[in-house]
Amino acid sequence: MLNIRPRRNRVNEAIRSLVRETVLSKADFIYPLFLLEGENLEVEVNSMPGQYRRSLDRTLSFLEKVVEAGILAIALFPVVPESKKNKTGDESWNPQALIPNSISKIKAKFPKLIVIADVALDPYNSDGHDGIVENGIILNDATVKILTKQAVVLAQAGADIIAPSDMMDGRVSEIRGALDRNGFQNIGIMSYSAKYASAYYGPFREALDSAPKSGDKKTYQMDPANSQEALQEVALDLKEGADIVMIKPAGAYLDIIAKVKSNYQCPLAAYQVSGEYAMIMAAIEKGWLDRDTTILESLLSIKRAGADMILTYFALDACNILEESHE
Ligand code: PBG
Repeated sequence: MLNIRPRRNRVNEAIRSLVRETVLSKADFIYPLFLLEGENLEVEVNSMPGQYRRSLDRTLSFLEKVVEAGILAIALFPVVPESKKNKTGDESWNPQALIPNSISKIKAKFPKLIVIADVALDPYNSDGHDGIVENGIILNDATVKILTKQAVVLAQAGADIIAPSDMMDGRVSEIRGALDRNGFQNIGIMSYSAKYASAYYGPFREALDSAPKSGDKKTYQMDPANSQEALQEVALDLKEGADIVMIKPAGAYLDIIAKVKSNYQCPLAAYQVSGEYAMIMAAIEKGWLDRDTTILESLLSIKRAGADMILTYFALDACNILEESHE
């Protein structure tokens, strides 16, 4: 006699649907996009097949597809020509620069689309770091001063959410203060709270041509060996006024996502980063993994671990797969 047979709840799709604990929805995804200066440009990222650097005009037409597919939010990253980079990343707070200009055009055409604007110096910094480098040291407080200017410029351009990805200490409270002083009480902060010094960012740095010219990011991004520290980082960001906290990368850090979710009552984002996308795509291209089921399983696992929203380069693919599966 076998009293308990867990397989009873798996006998058909209907019963499996009834007992299912986690369901992916189109509203879970945030699509990161790379922007290029110029016109009529669409350049594929070598290590991210299917992902492109686009000029604004091409981005605006691509976004019609994105919005129609049901995506609610995008995150923007700029490719900055070497000639516009300097030691202090001044282009990061130029109101006429690529990103603020793009935000205002995107919001004019798609007012309901949530535009998340990244705050960090690395695309603009001639040293390729998220902060100002002086004698090989990344300066914290001097960097934060520039980040607050960048945040205000992005808010003025119409960004809905400001997302500091730099990992400097104390930047959330400084940015919150600057936004409030400038009348942007309703602009939220999505903080990259536990951002690890990860090898999985390689393809992104190729896309943006933003790799550090020397050294690594280990003096500001977190040690992959640590999880207690992630809880401390999240606690600090919440105290400083973050509205949403983020764990990054996602797939290799599901334990961190689960821990943060069980320790804090706050919206939690996870970033399935460029290297995660590259790995999955490489296996799909080789015919070693099934495309649709692998994409959905990778995202479902991140949600099951506790993420309320996922930044993912699969956002559009996932929406289309979900749509097809409902037909
Ligand atoms: C830098 C930044 C990085 C990513 C987002 N913002 C890379 C880095 O820290 O070097 C990585 C995203 C990805 O790999 O998809 N501020």
